[in-house]
Amino acid sequence: MRPDVEFAVWASERQQRIESVLGRMLGTEALAAGPLADAMRYAALGGGKRMRPLLAYAAGECVGADPDVVDAPAAAVELIHAYSLVHDDLPCMDDDVLRRGRPTTHVAFGEAMALLAGDALQALAFGVLAGSGMPDPGRACLLLADAAGSHGMAGGQAIDLAVTGSSLALGELTTMHRLKTGALIDAAVRLGALSRGALAVDVERALAGYAAAAGLAFQVVDDVLDVEGTAESLGKTAGKDAAQGKPTFVTLMGLAAARAHAEALRLDAHAALAPLGAAGARLGELADWITRRSH
Ligand code: IPE
Ligand code: IPE
Ligand code: MG
Ligand code: MG
Ligand code: MG
Repeated sequence: MRPDVEFAVWASERQQRIESVLGRMLGTEALAAGPLADAMRYAALGGGKRMRPLLAYAAGECVGADPDVVDAPAAAVELIHAYSLVHDDLPCMDDDVLRRGRPTTHVAFGEAMALLAGDALQALAFGVLAGSGMPDPGRACLLLADAAGSHGMAGGQAIDLAVTGSSLALGELTTMHRLKTGALIDAAVRLGALSRGALAVDVERALAGYAAAAGLAFQVVDDVLDVEGTAESLGKTAGKDAAQGKPTFVTLMGLAAARAHAEALRLDAHAALAPLGAAGARLGELADWITRRSH
């Protein structure tokens, strides 16, 4: 099988797997019936690239973890991600009406229910990890809390709001992106690998270097696609960053240099994986996919 086809098959199998795992966690037996449950399902099921779960599965495979154990962290990071998108789209934040090719959750269910759906998805994520078969669920919860909280995604989102309308230097922009997007991507990789147990120092270093580069590449490409993509190709409104005066890698360095920066980060991600040898190949393919995606 051609390598790109083999990767596509691998990714599609894991995307289907996480869809059914999330479907169970958000099923009628798991949630109290009503509009909150409907909004949670709307926000988390049936859409998205599922990149963070793919990273968790690939990191798990890299260290020989049991995929049945990786299901929990893969789902937990995606639940946090889904919650972050619901809140990111609210009128008090980016005020977006389109997400994953559909009306955003607050457009479909109202702002109050969208806010609560985000809250409940976050709570579910921690419940899933705490009750998982991971070797150290407490450590896993702490790691996810750091990635989602004030030193991670929420902290990055706060910076994003504070700097809207101004310009940032490269270092500041990089810090913002590392927090708002990179922290959760780092958690996806680490939690996938921790499904096997504590990591050897060199493996941990390789995975951390990989996640830092791939995570930043991901958000640089998100900035590029906001300019180059269309609502149809992205499933979300294009041109929003410029319309709202967000500092991005495109406003800072221009389109061509931002693309080149993403490509350099992709190579950094591969370089970080080198000590892992063949075991890191799938993560390398994911870095390629992250950087070369069109949506
Ligand atoms: C979009 O994330 C939000 C950012 C963190 C930039 P994704 O591009 O992973 O969104 P989905 O999950 O595929 O919809
Ligand atoms: C969102 O970044 C990051 C999150 C933590 C959700 P963006 O605001 O750039 O994401 P999109 O472009 O709306 O998907
Ligand atoms: Mg935003
Ligand atoms: Mg947004
Ligand atoms: Mg964006």
